[in-house]
Amino acid sequence: MSRYVAFEGVDGAGKSTIARLVADRLMEIGHTVVHVREPGGTRTGEAVRQILLGTDSHPELWAEALLFAAARSQLAAEIVGPALEADKTVVSDRCVYSSLAYQGAGRGLGMDQVRRVNEAGLQGVWPDTVILLRVAPERGLAREDEADRISVEGIDLQVSVASAYDQMAAAEPDRFVVIDADLGVDEVVKRSLAALGERW
Ligand code: TYD
Repeated sequence: MSRYVAFEGVDGAGKSTIARLVADRLMEIGHTVVHVREPGGTRTGEAVRQILLGTDSHPELWAEALLFAAARSQLAAEIVGPALEADKTVVSDRCVYSSLAYQGAGRGLGMDQVRRVNEAGLQGVWPDTVILLRVAPERGLAREDEADRISVEGIDLQVSVASAYDQMAAAEPDRFVVIDADLGVDEVVKRSLAALGERW
């Protein structure tokens, strides 16, 4: 059985903080945890991250979607797939659902199309649990400490991204756990761990 959890949400939902705390806690209770972030996590992926998030690059929409998918494909082949094979627990800051929300819905490429290219790149390496940290998009943007090329685009993109996440959570209720990100760090971590405890 695989244990692969990804944290998702609009920019500024607090994914990175929560993912780190959850990973730490899982290690304390005996999991061998591999903690990754997207885009990135491999040499190839970090190089792609520079292209994607640097404010000096201007990829076309499909180029952007394929670069995210390329970084993710490398991460799946090099890190996540082997970790799951070795019965390790994978905690990820974002995953394929970010691409469905941002590129598929936010950029208007179509969630099905974006899912298909990612499926090709991932070869079945797919999170069993997605924890959606839900926050109002304008609050998320206000909380962002470091703006990147995508989060600087403003509220309209974030609003369509937020609604895509809600739609996906409703469509895949067995995979998604939705947590109100405004509850405070301790409570969000507690609920995340409780949800994982029930599943795993
Ligand atoms: P991230 O580093 O998680 O930023 P934050 O912590 O601010 O949420 O992600 C960087 C940006 O990349 C963020 O705006 C979301 C975007 N993104 C996509 O558009 N598609 C993707 O597939 C991924 C993984 C991220």
